[in-house]
Amino acid sequence: MIFNIKKFARKLLLDLKPYKSAREEYVRDNKNMVLLDANESPYKSLTNRYPDPLQIELKEKISKWKRISINKIYLSNGSDEFISQSILGFCEPSLDHIIITSPTFLMYKVSANLHGVEVKDIPLLNDFELNVSEIIKKSNNNSKILFIARPNNPTGNSYQEKDLKNILENFSGLVIVDEAYIEYSKQKSFINYLNKYPNLIVCQTFSKAQGMAGARLGMAFAHEEIISFLNQLKAPYNINTLSQKEAISKIKSQNKVLLKTRAILKERDVLEYKMKKIHFIKKIYTSDANFFLLKVDDSSKRYKQLIDKGIVVRNSSKNLNCSNTLRVTVGTSKENIMLIEAMKEIDK
Ligand SMILES: Cc1ncc(COP(=O)(O)O)c(C=O)c1O
Repeated sequence: MIFNIKKFARKLLLDLKPYKSAREEYVRDNKNMVLLDANESPYKSLTNRYPDPLQIELKEKISKWKRISINKIYLSNGSDEFISQSILGFCEPSLDHIIITSPTFLMYKVSANLHGVEVKDIPLLNDFELNVSEIIKKSNNNSKILFIARPNNPTGNSYQEKDLKNILENFSGLVIVDEAYIEYSKQKSFINYLNKYPNLIVCQTFSKAQGMAGARLGMAFAHEEIISFLNQLKAPYNINTLSQKEAISKIKSQNKVLLKTRAILKERDVLEYKMKKIHFIKKIYTSDANFFLLKVDDSSKRYKQLIDKGIVVRNSSKNLNCSNTLRVTVGTSKENIMLIEAMKEIDK
């Protein structure tokens, strides 16, 4: 399918000449070069050299793991950085806007605010499904990005595949499907649809099921022209050496990740069963992720009571249509027992 990045990118940034490290074209082919180009310390340690700006070794591993070619992979300092860079790259401040579907992950809005880009909100329906017809009706040529988290945070549900496809076929801007929790989901990744929909970007993260939130590493998958454009905008060394190494070893141990993911899903079932007996919990929303959205009688009161018992959950009540809700992450079996004990005590 014909794809032209000029339709999406900010004009100002299209001809940008990015910063290039002097050695980029030499080191990959010849590991024995004497490196005197970057004013680093010459004394060897894990981190005395700047990291590979294009993270080729790591991308090769991701490419095999996700079955996607290297030139369709972009890496960021957490998905947060990718969200910010995509708004920077595709939205003209004071002219374009992004679309979000509240309640959803707050960073889309925060990031747009930081970049001076307007946010149009087309809230989810009462059952937390996408309002597809409104999204299509209310979008125009200045609707540059639609952010869809699937599974969604804080609601925990995954939207219907047919709704997403409908949007991808009818929305003229870019659709970013944020799959931060995909490992926990029953749904298949939209990576499989990248060839079909050139306006689709899928992002995933090492922060959740991969257990590397502290390393800050996000992945985005898209048409090669989108990736090449995003690479032009990025800070040259946005992924540090330690995170790149850690991610390479994490990819090798996906069997362990899978076991831990399954353990969390089992814990999620146990937690749900036990929380059904807690009276102050009025509703447990079905979760396709590693957390629950709970409707409670009084979220501020229950939040504080849990804090007093040494347990921090998220008071998610400020989100649209989420009054009196708490968002609770599934922890280890021991942590979940402590949570339930605390809930039972304050339920008395
Ligand atoms: C839907 C969603 N996307 C992205 C992120 C952030 O991911 P990262 O840690 O990679 O910045 C989160 C974190 O809570 C999230 O819930």
